[in-house]
Formats: sequence, C-alpha cells, structure tokens
Amino acid sequence: MFSNLLSSLRLGPVEIPNRIVSTAHQTTLVHEHLPTDEFVAYHEARASGGVGLIVLEATAVDESGLLTSHTLGGYLPEIVDGYRRVASAVQPHGTRLFVQIFHGGREQIASAPRPAALAPSPVPSPRFRTEPRAARPADLERIVVGYARAASLAAEAGLDGVEVSAAHRYLIEQFFDPSLNLRTDEWADGRTLLTAVLRAVREAAPQLCLGVRVSGDSKRGPEIAEAAVAERVDYLSVALGDSSTYLGSVGIVPPPPVEDDAVAAHVERFRLGVPVIATSRIVDPESAERLITGGLVDAVGMTRALIADPELPAKAGTGRRILRCIGCNTCIAHYNAGTGIACAVNPRTGRELTLPSSQPGTPARRVVVVGGGPAGLAAATDAAEVGHAVTLLERADRLGGQMALSRAAPGTAEVGRQLVALYEGRLADAEVEVRLGVEVDLGFVLALAPDAVVVATGARPYVPDRPLDGVEVTQSWDVLSGRTPSGLRVVVADWGGDPSGLDAAEVLALARNDVTLAVASVSVGEAVHQYRRNLYLQRLYRAGVHVLQHHALAGAVDGHVELENVFARELRLRLPADLLILAQGRIPDDALARQLVEAGLRVEEAGDCLSPRSLEEAVLEGTLAARRACAFA
Ligand SMILES: Cc1cc2nc3c(=O)[nH]c(=O)nc-3n(C[C@H](O)[C@H](O)[C@H](O)COP(=O)(O)O)c2cc1C
Repeated sequence: MFSNLLSSLRLGPVEIPNRIVSTAHQTTLVHEHLPTDEFVAYHEARASGGVGLIVLEATAVDESGLLTSHTLGGYLPEIVDGYRRVASAVQPHGTRLFVQIFHGGREQIASAPRPAALAPSPVPSPRFRTEPRAARPADLERIVVGYARAASLAAEAGLDGVEVSAAHRYLIEQFFDPSLNLRTDEWADGRTLLTAVLRAVREAAPQLCLGVRVSGDSKRGPEIAEAAVAERVDYLSVALGDSSTYLGSVGIVPPPPVEDDAVAAHVERFRLGVPVIATSRIVDPESAERLITGGLVDAVGMTRALIADPELPAKAGTGRRILRCIGCNTCIAHYNAGTGIACAVNPRTGRELTLPSSQPGTPARRVVVVGGGPAGLAAATDAAEVGHAVTLLERADRLGGQMALSRAAPGTAEVGRQLVALYEGRLADAEVEVRLGVEVDLGFVLALAPDAVVVATGARPYVPDRPLDGVEVTQSWDVLSGRTPSGLRVVVADWGGDPSGLDAAEVLALARNDVTLAVASVSVGEAVHQYRRNLYLQRLYRAGVHVLQHHALAGAVDGHVELENVFARELRLRLPADLLILAQGRIPDDALARQLVEAGLRVEEAGDCLSPRSLEEAVLEGTLAARRACAFA
C-alpha cells in the first residue's frame, strides 16, 4: 500500500525520501521578515510527521518584492541564521528543505508604508488596488541579482534547494502576460527575465536543486514551463490560481464544492521530461498514490492536508485516522488577516509551542458533553482519545450543529459533511457514547453523575424587534433545514455576519424563487473570508439573486419588506414580497450552563454558547474546555 507515494524520488542533486510535499505557503509566523520560533516548530512538526520535502514560503528576493509586512526577506543577511534554525529542526527527520524565492511584482498585500510597486508595465492590479510603475532596466538587473543572492544565502544556510515562483501571476508570470507586459525593450519577451533569473541562481548556488513553480490553469503556464525546462531545471511544481483576481485567488486554494484532486486535470501538458510535483486539493494518500501510479505526476503537494494533519505521511497505510482537511480555508484566511497560520480541525497548527498534544488521562474521568456541534465534537474527541469516558448528548437527530444545518447549500454543505464525517470517525475510534435526539436538562445531566460537564449548547437565531406584519417571516436556519418553497418573491434580510443568509438566498434561488438578498453591510459576505465569499458571489449572481447592499431591515407591512439605507437612514425602500427570511445574527444558548453551575457541577463552556463565532473558535475552545474539565486534582 502506498508503495509509490512512499518511495523516494530524485530531483536533480537531491533525493526526497517520499513523494509527499508541503509546498510553499505563507505562515505569518514571521517577524521583521525572519522566521520566528513558532515558524521553526511549525515546520518541525511536519518534518517529524514524515513529509518528504518542505518548500518554505514565498521569500522575497528584494524589498520591492515583499508581499506583506510578514513576508520572509530572502535578501537579508540575517535570513541565514533563520534558515539554519529551520534546517536543524527539519533535516534530521530526513525531510529535505527548499525555499521558494519570489517577487510579487505589482501584487502587494501590505498596508502602508509600502515600497513602490514594480511591474513589467504600469497596469493597475484589481485585487489589491496597486498601481505599479514599469520596472526600469536597473530595477530588473537588481532583482536578478537579488535572486542570485537569495539562492546563495539559502545555500550558505544548508538548504537543499530553491524554487523560483513563476506562478500565480506574480512578477515572472507578469512578464509572460501580453496584457501586463507592454514593453518594447529587451524585457518584452517574458523569457528574458526567467532565463536571467534561472542562470543567475544556478551560478550562485550550483549545488542546490532548482525548481520552478507554474500555475497549471494559466494560459502562460506551458510556455513558462518550456522556458524553464530549456534551462534544465530539476523539477516543475504545478499549482493552480492567480493572485491578481478575486476568483483566481480562490483558485490557489480551491475549497469544496471544487472536487478533490483539482490539479489533476491540468498537469498533462507539463510532462516535459522533468519531475512534476502537482498540488491542489489532493487530500487523501489513496488519491495521491493513484495519481503517481498512473504516471500523471511524480510527487504530490498536500499542503492544506498537512496543515490539518502534520502526521499524514507517517499515518498513511497504518490505519491511524488522518485529520482530513475539510477545505474550509481557515489557514489562508489567517494569512489575509495577517495572523499566524491556524487550522479549524487542528488547533495545534500554528500553536506547536503552546498547545501540547493531549496527554493520557489519568485518572480517567466521566465526562458529559452537551451539544454535538463543532465545540462539543472537539471536546468529546479530545477527552475520549486520551482515555476519559465520554458521553455526548445532542438534541438534534444528527451531529454537526450549524455546520450540518444545510445539506443543500453549496457553500457549506460539503465542508459540513466532511467535518461531521471526520468527527464521527474519531468518536467511534475513541468509543464515545453518542446519544442523539435527547432534550437535556439539569436532571438528565445529574442522573449521569459526571465528574465534569462540557457545555457546548451553541446558539439560536436572533429575532430583531421590528414590526413584521403582512409578510410571512421565517429564519434562514429554517430554510437551510429544508423549508424551501418555490415560486415566491423572497427578501433575505442579511445583517452581514455569518453566512446563513447567503446560504438561504442561494438555496431559495436554486428552488426557483425570485430572491433579493439585502445586506446591511458595505459588501456581501463582509464577515466571510474572501476564499469563501468570492465563490458565494459567483454562485449568487449566476443563480439570479438580486443583490442589494447597504440596506438594513426596518420592518414588513402589507405585503412589503421595508429596508433602510444604513448610511442615510432617511432613505427607505419598500420591496413587494411573499416571504421574508431573517438572517440577523445569533444569540447564545447558555441557560443550561448556569443551571449546572448552580447545582454544583464542574462545568466548562465552549463555542457559540459563550458568544457565537466561527468553526475555528468552536473547535479550539472545545479542545481547551475538555482539557480543563479533565485536569483537576
Ligand atoms: C496559507 C497558505 C499560503 C500560501 N502561500 C503560498 C506561497 O507563499 N507560495 C506559493 O507558491 N503558494 C502558496 N500557497 C499555495 C499552496 O502552495 C498550494 O498550492 C495550495 O494550498 C493548494 O494546494 P493544497 O490543496 O494541497 O493545499 C499558499 C497556500 C496556503 C493555504
């Protein structure tokens, strides 16, 4: 089993011990453009989990190429010490260590003060609204020298290789793009820059493995790959996406409902005689093995899969359950927010130094967990996996809480289904007693005589105090639970927070209603990270939903929904409607916790019952609550 995936592979001068790769990804565990101790611990955890190759994140070759204030500075002399610390943590595990050397060109995510943005030509960039100048020949010569310097610093630190990013429409790809490169000088041909960079890097660090990353779904990808292979690179890394557009940036990290192994459809044209590492939504060792055995790829990037479970390579084939990435993109949402990398299903990701793995539970406790949403699921598994006797009580007839509310909403259903499948497996492995469909009160819990209780009773929809007459009114949650009429004029009044309003609007539009989504925020999905939001918008527009921004619910009367402009409150709209859907936020369900405390029980609370937030907080708090609940003298 996995005999190909777990076999070694030669990449030029380097042999990697297996074909599972953690491809370049920004961790934000960076301070002053240098790796932090958290950065070292993060990568060490993946190396000790058996990954064959780690490519460190996009690392700028010049100050003008910094994407953010927490991009590594590959041109800084101090980077050598930083790399050495990572190398001495990673390489003893047998894992090979490369770094991606990078220039963002006109893409800059940083806030002020930013360096002047450089590009082939002065074409503004729509995603981060940068307005670059055309790089002057002296800029380009300096950048080429920067690549060489970055490679020689990597070699000095003992790294095994460097990967030049020519993907995602960053600087090198910008030079290949005729809509961005309007030059008439020697740099007009995209190959001029790529060739100069590859030659300079080879000369500066001839002992290192040298690879090039391309976007497999880019029109320019094959031409870039051919130019790279002509320079005898040691491998091609094929990813997906384009950082310069809303949809392209989601394409870098395709979430469900995008299908697993998304990259597979794009790799064939990159079979140019050098090894190919292919990456994008490869999540299971089984499909990774298939792709390699079929000869489509030589190695697989399993980046989010390893963010979720650093032990995936060691677990493959042993029967140990893998914490399977559900594709929620919490990891990259942290990058955009400028906060350290995290994972919704693995609270230890990014907290390797501060959150130990759970320790065997001695003495074993009897723990009751009330609530089978994400916080309760995390609490129950964390306690039971180390030997405590856990009973999980859930009012509904299924697990997952809000994550399982909708089986029909494309934006949530698949992530929810995968989350529940992951936890169902873990609950069964750890022999948690799960009781569904139980209405839990104080007496119920007391009868179980627990040593401790974790309360994770979640939240319920908020009902605003507005006159709501003359129109049928229902909650977005009811729509998601299956109440989907058709042929009606529907207004979804969405306050702009959690995505239940977006889900309800989409489900109702797909059920052939005439839907207006009125959001009381500046933009649709304002509190939903862009790696989900952009796809919501794509689907909502395609489903024919009328989008109305900046309008809050004022009331309903006489077959009309009344909305007021949140910026000019005197401006009102009256929309004829048969049905009004409320998505006005949530309030905690916290009554039981107080009763249990008053009855003298040891109680820990977690998740939305403390204040409704996201999956990530629920899982983290459930985990921590379980540990507190079991750790008493
Ligand atoms: C948090 C995060 C940051 C990323 N940063 C980079 C980067 O610095 N350079 C790069 O080429 N790709 C970057 N990527 C893309 C990944 O290398 C990879 O192509 C992508 O995650 C899809 O693969 P996966 O489905 O195995 O996760 C990043 C991805 C994530 C999740």
